[in-house]
Amino acid sequence: MTTQLSTQQATAASSGRSATEVFRKKAKAGGDTSTDRVSALVSELLAAVHGIVREHKLTYAEYDALKSWLIQVGADGEWPLFLDVFVEHEVERVANENRQGSKGTIEGPYYVPGAPVLGSDATLPMRDGEPGTPLLFAGQVRDGSGAPIGGARIEIWHADDGGFYSQFAPAIPEWNLRGTVIADDEGRFRIRTIQPAPYQIPTDGATGKLIAAAGWHAWRPAHLHLKVSAEGYELITTQLYFRGCEHVDSDIASAVKPELILDPAPAAGGNEVTYDFVLDPAS
Ligand code: DHB
Ligand code: FE
Repeated sequence: MTTQLSTQQATAASSGRSATEVFRKKAKAGGDTSTDRVSALVSELLAAVHGIVREHKLTYAEYDALKSWLIQVGADGEWPLFLDVFVEHEVERVANENRQGSKGTIEGPYYVPGAPVLGSDATLPMRDGEPGTPLLFAGQVRDGSGAPIGGARIEIWHADDGGFYSQFAPAIPEWNLRGTVIADDEGRFRIRTIQPAPYQIPTDGATGKLIAAAGWHAWRPAHLHLKVSAEGYELITTQLYFRGCEHVDSDIASAVKPELILDPAPAAGGNEVTYDFVLDPAS
């Protein structure tokens, strides 16, 4: 209990800072955006803000509170968290609207490339006695015609039974509950892990304070994160949820889609579920 509490207290500052550092390493600048497009996008964003100011008669006190809050989001390193919760879902929808294969959803701020490479019958790195219900997650990667994609890469990462991600909360081994699983020649994989817990946005950072001030809840339903890829196919970034799990109908990040909800079945020693991925050809 004490350990749980101290992990929780440490998490907002440390997860925010780590998410900002990780993002800076991977970010591609949008340098190919033309001046016309920048002008159009920024003008429309500002016009929307001006409209809200007029419609709601924003006061100077509220304007100053907004400035303070924006400054604090940066100070807490929470821009990746805030944007991935409140904006990424629409970017993902637009980016993938023409996909024929499996549904994707947001990546979120906690992906780290380079997780240990594991065979097709894999157990994710975990601590001795890792808390949580064991989960066997198995399936096949195929193309649109149903042909298996041998050797596909299934990168998987998820929170632990306390809702914490390795590398973004203190005292969790580096690659805990993260792995790069290589499917067999038939595109099949079997991954042993534990079922993650729901994830709560850190309550002590700027994002959590905004959520509390608005009277919203700060939860995402329990989820597995995945990136599935193979030579000659479009990479898919997705998440899978668990039917009946708390918050699956009220995700603060608006990232749940009906196709992404699993129905695990109780089996000897844990839960089991299968899910197949269909990849689109590279465009
Ligand atoms: C956030 C956290 C997640 O685990 C996720 O999947 C998406 C967003 C966040 O805190 O921003
Ligand atoms: Fe997540």
